[in-house]
Amino acid sequence: MQKGLTHYGDAEFSLFLRQAFIKGAGYTDDALSRPVIGIADTGSDYNPCHGNAPQLLEAVKRGVMLAGGLPMRFPTVSIHESFAAPTSMFLRNLMAMDTEEMIRAQPMDAVVLIGGCDKTVPAQLMGAASAGLPSIQLITGSMLTGSHRGERVGACTDCRRYWARFRAGDIDAAEKDEVNDQLVASVGTCSVMGTASTMACVAEALGMTVPGGASPPAVTADRIRIAEQTGAQAVQMARDKLDIARILTPAAFHNALRVLLAIGGSTNGVVHLAALAGRMGLALDLPALDRMGRDTPVLLDLKPAGQHYMEDFHAAGGMATLLRELKPLLRLNAMTVTGRTLGEEMDRAGPVFAQTVVRPCTDPIYPQGGLAVLYGNLAPGGAIIKPSAADPALMEHTGKAVVFENLQDMVERIDSDDLDVTAQDVLVLKHIGPKGAPGMPEAGYIPIPRKLARAGVKDMLRISDGRMSGTAFGTIVLHVTPESAIGGPLALVHNGDLIALSLSRREISLQVPAAELQRRASAAPAVPPTADRGYLKLFLNSVTQADQGVDFDFLQAPTLVGKVPDQT
Ligand code: FES
Repeated sequence: MQKGLTHYGDAEFSLFLRQAFIKGAGYTDDALSRPVIGIADTGSDYNPCHGNAPQLLEAVKRGVMLAGGLPMRFPTVSIHESFAAPTSMFLRNLMAMDTEEMIRAQPMDAVVLIGGCDKTVPAQLMGAASAGLPSIQLITGSMLTGSHRGERVGACTDCRRYWARFRAGDIDAAEKDEVNDQLVASVGTCSVMGTASTMACVAEALGMTVPGGASPPAVTADRIRIAEQTGAQAVQMARDKLDIARILTPAAFHNALRVLLAIGGSTNGVVHLAALAGRMGLALDLPALDRMGRDTPVLLDLKPAGQHYMEDFHAAGGMATLLRELKPLLRLNAMTVTGRTLGEEMDRAGPVFAQTVVRPCTDPIYPQGGLAVLYGNLAPGGAIIKPSAADPALMEHTGKAVVFENLQDMVERIDSDDLDVTAQDVLVLKHIGPKGAPGMPEAGYIPIPRKLARAGVKDMLRISDGRMSGTAFGTIVLHVTPESAIGGPLALVHNGDLIALSLSRREISLQVPAAELQRRASAAPAVPPTADRGYLKLFLNSVTQADQGVDFDFLQAPTLVGKVPDQT
């Protein structure tokens, strides 16, 4: 309670005043003498993915008190994917700033971060990384799956699949409404390997959760037990002064990136890990990530790349099972929140048993490259593709560009019967990058034009400077850097230009002579968007490109100390 006193010009008076106020809430001197554990509570009626936050909070408090600490709940920003306009990513850095400053401003010896929905875990980790205290992540957990006419369904891969069927005329409005009741069968995060599940697995791989913290579904007793353990562990971390900087090391990022690739994780994981690494003075080395992808098999058979859901992954042993398979590829000396290394925790994990969700390295669901990094004259700063969710027939493909200048243009024309498009063409969507939309919305999953969808076309090559939900699938090139809004080459693409994708060469190229591209750039120079006031102004002035994690430049560590994944 003596940390970070409010400035009144008299420190003893500041403490006297603080104690008077906290005693007003009924605390004793004994309680106030214990290690103080802040609990970042992101429960919100606008966030069903955190609908179990009250139960988790109670269990964390129980764990803290059983271990002799004093739990102190505090609220922060909470963000849900479907309730955040213009896009949750626009607000991730705001939540990270809120989390960082509340950890720093209030007296606590360690902090428990309760998060789950896509942007919340990265925001909390980013904020905690900058604040520097002992910190531990508690994931809210995945939702249960539902059942629609005998078929198991879950958000949000099946949301997209049913919506695509509705657009194609396969199902009528009544069935669309019926399945809508089943897609989200309980509170909790999306039940497939979307961004939330990805970041849950990544958080555990980073060493930022207790062992087994990634996979228990939101409404299970296992999840509540994890919450109690998390509270108790936070007290131990406070006593041991196990600061977050001892956990978020290059070895931890190596493991997190390896896991991201092996689970066929969301492309958003790349952006979030780049941002988190940047908080620790580490740059994400995209070519090194691509090389890592080439020797990392995709082992997790979860939608959208596979068949199962998060609750199946949990029943299959969760991260312990996955990490065991990946053991030769991991940095086992990485420290975790328990004060033991990842390798030591793996040795303590339960016995091996038969299961079908985590494949062995000898029989992967995809032999390599859950994610691949592309370069070329269309993306000099890099772009990302998720081969495990793409059509193999389009991995070496050249097609004619069908260009949409921005989201509105796409919305107005994509379903027009007059749209001049074939299945061999390449759909290009500009101005959905970090500054362009703004906030880099998950609009990179450009829908198949209605007339092609009705003709049975399921996939096309699509390119944008935006992001895609981890629950989506298709041959989709994302995060094209630099973005079109600041004059990246994507801005120069015209209808009818040829675009070539070569996964084998890791290349995305615009087959237009350089002189013509120069002429186009001079004829229509980019005018980056600006704003007059408020958070939007801060965002547009400060946001970095996708390769730096779309973080604010002034929130990154002031000095670069290395790259991840390192090649040693
Ligand atoms: Fe929250 Fe999918 S909307 S995890």
